[in-house]
Amino acid sequence: MHAGADAGAASWYIQKVIQSAVVPVAGLGTRLLPATKSQPKEMLPVARKPIVQYVVEELVSNGIEQILFVTGRSKGSIENHFDHDPELFQALTQANKQDLLRELEFEALKANFFYTRQRLQRGLGDAILCAENFAGEKPFLVALGDSILGLNAVSRAVSRMADVFDAKRASCVIAVEEVPSEETSHYGIVQPASGADDVFRIVNLVEKPAPKDAPSNLAIAGRYIFSPVIFDMIRRVQPDKRNEIQLTDAIQFMCDEGRRVLAVKLTPEEKRYDIGNFPSYFESFVEFALADPLYGADFRIALERLLAKTPAKV
Ligand code: UTP
Repeated sequence: MHAGADAGAASWYIQKVIQSAVVPVAGLGTRLLPATKSQPKEMLPVARKPIVQYVVEELVSNGIEQILFVTGRSKGSIENHFDHDPELFQALTQANKQDLLRELEFEALKANFFYTRQRLQRGLGDAILCAENFAGEKPFLVALGDSILGLNAVSRAVSRMADVFDAKRASCVIAVEEVPSEETSHYGIVQPASGADDVFRIVNLVEKPAPKDAPSNLAIAGRYIFSPVIFDMIRRVQPDKRNEIQLTDAIQFMCDEGRRVLAVKLTPEEKRYDIGNFPSYFESFVEFALADPLYGADFRIALERLLAKTPAKV
């Protein structure tokens, strides 16, 4: 199957190769304090929906049906969000609020949800380790709960990744996106084995390199497919200075052992919206709000009025 194949075929295909996804949502989200003091950053809204709802909709539209959330303390609202709320449903039905009832249709998404807890926030690698029993012997997808792919989560990237994982017998496939060369120090950057086409082999991963040290301008973009061998690799990782087990260290072990670690490039339409910091959160919110079918046009006028009143200070 190729990138241009229709959605139905993609869904059928991915179910054959990748049936399950792990969505880590246990992080403390300290860069978004105080907003995240008592609520998960993954529940912050981007325009109309919480971030994690976009993530789940993207996964389901790509044929994933089993989703494990790795949660932590103060993350209960994520579980509630994907649960049916009979009282709310009844109240809206009695009031004949059909438009609002439509906003709850995501409750019927064709997915089974599972939850486990990461007891101590010891980094992304440690969070993935919590999914070992869930994954069993099968390959699985990891989708970061604070990253949306594509405007309104329209993306077939994970279907393409599943295709590559299977066809190339990979151990790991990572979504990557081009970032401005002067911004490499904000990202995990990959080093391609040779050229960097739409699909290429990775030999090294470098965390937040200065532009002069960066091996490329291709950043890890929040979606991964792993064979279960990743769990052994994570167990070998030593905690870093912040006492966190980094997932990139485990992937680096895979590269060092000569395992096939491949990258799939996101298209410009599949841009990653990383909601982990305020500048990116603000920008994402505005972009999604401008694209809102009902309120976008008026919001654009309001924004233009506001911008005319407060010109940028340079
Ligand atoms: P981040 O790297 O943004 O870390 O997590 P964080 O702890 O949430 O945020 P800061 O750095 O304190 O601001 C990326 C994804 O991995 C999850 C997060 O919930 C987020 O979806 N994560 C991170 C975990 O599940 N467990 C962890 O220990 C760390």
